[in-house]
Parts: sequence; structure tokens; C-alpha cells
Amino acid sequence: MPTIISVASGKGGVGKSMVVSNLGLLLARQGQRVILVDMDIGGANLHILFGMFHPPTTLTDFFTNRLTNLEDLAHPLANPLPLRLIPGTGETLITANLQHAKKKRLIRHLQKLDADIILVDVGAGTSYHALDFFLLADHFLAVATPDPTSVLDLYRFIKLAAIRKVLTAFLARDPVAEALLSQDFHSITEVLEAVGRTSESGVALAQQALQGFQPALILNRMTPKSRINTLHLRNLLKQYVGAELSVLGNIPEDPQVQQSILKYLPVVEFSPKSPAAQAFEHIAENVLKQIEQPEGFRNSLEEPRKIRA
Ligand SMILES: Nc1ncnc2c1ncn2[C@@H]1O[C@H](COP(=O)(O)OP(=O)(O)O)[C@@H](O)[C@H]1O
Ligand SMILES: [Mg+2]
Repeated sequence: MPTIISVASGKGGVGKSMVVSNLGLLLARQGQRVILVDMDIGGANLHILFGMFHPPTTLTDFFTNRLTNLEDLAHPLANPLPLRLIPGTGETLITANLQHAKKKRLIRHLQKLDADIILVDVGAGTSYHALDFFLLADHFLAVATPDPTSVLDLYRFIKLAAIRKVLTAFLARDPVAEALLSQDFHSITEVLEAVGRTSESGVALAQQALQGFQPALILNRMTPKSRINTLHLRNLLKQYVGAELSVLGNIPEDPQVQQSILKYLPVVEFSPKSPAAQAFEHIAENVLKQIEQPEGFRNSLEEPRKIRA
């Protein structure tokens, strides 16, 4: 079964798709069979980053049952490298009220794809779709820039994802689910308290649901002057969200990134020696380590390397 990695950000425009395209290419170069999936409903553009302007088929065909086999939607991107793309849908109406059953079906099909790694580009924002597509993965990556609003949006996203993760653990369990679904929560502590009022054993289940939830952060567009207190963010998330956050690496602000996008190429292909491309090499290594040995990897993580001036 493939390893599914979802890549999210609280805010749009922070470089999420750029990260997905570059990581995908590097992992494929390492011999991993990679499929990129564009789940950015309404803002799907991964295909453009690879110069594919009119994808012959997209996820719309899957959601409307025109095509039933997800494998048929995976278009080769970089022959002979084992990198493929399932282009996203721009049609928000079809997906705006995508029922739970359809999401489940998509997840089942993703798990059956013939690949080693599936990288899911989750749309920005905190809609249920974004949260659910984020949570369908085995590993969670979050992208933010040092801009305070981006960090705040990321915090909000991870908090809501954690709450959603706990709530969905109860969907099948009636009394707790009913008690929870009618309320609005602001922190995991509130959720756990509400669960505890309904069911003693529920608290353990809720905590178990959170145990595997350890998002890894990628900081993008860093400059030598960027001040971001990752320790503070980490503590906040631990305290109010119950999630452990690790920092996977940081990518500098680099004009080569914009140049590469204009040429419809990932920067690791367009300018392999550029600072951004070099940072991606390091991040791709970390991603592979995380997949192979999640526990050992987290314990070995140090602070990300300094950005060169
Ligand atoms: N490290 C970087 N250095 C310079 N520009 C960047 C960098 N990362 C992203 N950008 C710029 O930000 C834009 C948005 O990136 P994109 O990946 O489309 O964001 P998202 O998918 O989060 O909406 C890119 O088109 C590029 O111009
Ligand atoms: Mg994008």
C-alpha cells in the first residue's frame, strides 16, 4: 500500500504547490514511484506548474463517475521518472457538497494506487474538505511562511484538524457523537472535557485518535531576517492542540523559484544549484527518513539549518 503524505497550509499562496511539485520530483529521482494528487478544490493548478495546460482528465471525472478507476487519471509527468499527477478539479459546485461516502471512496482508491508515495496537495483554508483530505494521510506536512498571518492560519488549521480528527473517531459511536456534533469547540481540551462528560472510555479513544497526529512543518520564503519562533508554535500546539510538531526544513526566499515557475519546471530541475533547490534536497531526505523510521526520525530532528545570507 502506498504511503500517503498530505501537504496543507492555513493560507493560500505560501508555496504549497511549489513544495509538492519539487518534493515529488526529488522523491521520484530517488526511485520512489510517486503520484501527486491535486485536492485544491477550486484552486487546482499543480498541472500548470508542470506545463500541462489542458489535462485530458481530472478528479471531476472521478467525482461524477465518468471514470471509475483513479489509476486512469494519473498522467505521467516526467518520463522516464516514475512521477505521475492526478489533476484537480476547478469545479467547486461538484465538490462543494461532496458527501462523506464519496470522500471515503476516494480514500479507498488512493490506497489502491500503484505507487510508493502519494503526495496530496490539500487546498488552503479550513473547510471540512480541506481538513478531511489532510487527515486522510499517513504523514502530515504543513507549509507556512514567516509572515505572522501565515503562522496564525497554520495554527488555526492544525487546531481544527486535530478537533476534526477526534470528532470523526466517534462518528460511529452514537451518544458521544451526538453530544459532540451539536457543539462548537475552540480547543482539544474542550473536546476532551465534553467527551468525558458523556463517556469515560471515550477520553482514551479521543487521545488515541490524536496520538498519530504529528504534523511536520516546512517554512518557506525564509530570509536571514525572518524571525519565527518555532519553539513557541510547537509549545502552543502541544498545549492547546495536543499535537507534536517537528520542523522538517526551511526553504529560502529565492528568485529562482519564480523563474522556474515561469518556465513550468520545478526549481530542482530548472536551477539545481539554487539555494531553494538545495533546501529541497535536504527536505526530501528528511521525508524519506520519516517514512522509513517515523519514531527514530522525530527524535533525531534538530533545528533546521540556518539560511545563508
Ligand atoms: N521560496 C520562494 N521564493 C520565492 N518565491 C516563492 C517561493 N515560494 C513560493 N514563491 C512564490 O509564491 C507563489 C505561490 O506559490 P504556490 O506554490 O502556488 O502557493 P500555494 O500552492 O500555497 O497557493 C509562487 O508562484 C512563487 O511566485
Ligand atoms: Mg496551490
